[in-house]
Amino acid sequence: MTSGGDAAGMNPAIKCTVDYSRMLGYKPYLVHNGLRGLIDDNIEAAKSSDVSGILHRGGTILRSSRSKRFFEYEHRQQAYENLQKHGISKLIVIGGDGSFRALNQFYSDFKVPFAGIPATIDNDIPGTDYCLGVDTALNMIRQNVDSIRDTASSFSRAFVIETMGRHCGYLAMASAVTSGAEVCLVPELEYDLEAIQRRLQKDIDNGRQFLIAIVAEGCQMGDYLTRWIKDKLKMDARLTILGHIQRGGSPTVRDRLMAFKFGIAAVDSLHRGETNKIMVYKSGSYSTVPIHELTGQTAGIDPILIEICKPLCR
Ligand code: F6P
Repeated sequence: MTSGGDAAGMNPAIKCTVDYSRMLGYKPYLVHNGLRGLIDDNIEAAKSSDVSGILHRGGTILRSSRSKRFFEYEHRQQAYENLQKHGISKLIVIGGDGSFRALNQFYSDFKVPFAGIPATIDNDIPGTDYCLGVDTALNMIRQNVDSIRDTASSFSRAFVIETMGRHCGYLAMASAVTSGAEVCLVPELEYDLEAIQRRLQKDIDNGRQFLIAIVAEGCQMGDYLTRWIKDKLKMDARLTILGHIQRGGSPTVRDRLMAFKFGIAAVDSLHRGETNKIMVYKSGSYSTVPIHELTGQTAGIDPILIEICKPLCR
């Protein structure tokens, strides 16, 4: 099943887990519509044709949802009865940490083992350096920032570009560095607008004609910074909120490969008899982490990336 915000890479992960679990002798099922589908019994045995021709598609063919009903015991009980009816004894969930916590609660209630594959463009799941969908989202952002740069440079304007990420600034930081932005504001880093003004004014005095500022949605600074640039730097400025285009698009090679690695690891984890494990990629190696070890942790951002971004905040 896929759950929470959709992310590119979910489809290759679905394909891999179905094909590989069948190879090991299991009978895989598909849960449609995420947690909502577990409750409403949108569950069916997986056919090979369900997962052929899906590798290159963005989003999730299983569809996804965020279900408030799953917080209530009676609905979780309904979900358990549905699984029993189909003879399903283990679950693989491709999604974010909210979905993992929901299935952890489900395990406490009914002892249905699960394995979690991290997938969210926000890259904010603790314990792993990488979540499916991030590379595709970054490439989507890069493509759009490159286009905006063309018009910014032609028209001598500043563009403030807001990226997604919820409370996490990873997408903004990685995009600012790789797109050559002049400014980057994220929740993780303190910024000094007066210092930014001094730096940019000097650049403008030396002939700078346009500028790009990337702000993470978690800062809620898009509008303010756009007005600030007009007022303080006397440069015409526009705000572009990239929005949901960041969630779509054909998964990149990196997302497809990571989907296969996480997918095989998830099936292997359940096959070994483990439960409540999240597949992670940390400091260059793959492993599994029990979900309780992630509780209360926050996702850390690569300290090198943070250092590279600091000059863009002052
Ligand atoms: O978690 C993924 C994400 O795209 C966030 O970056 C964003 O804040 C949120 O989901 C948007 O949610 P929705 O699709 O419900 O508007």
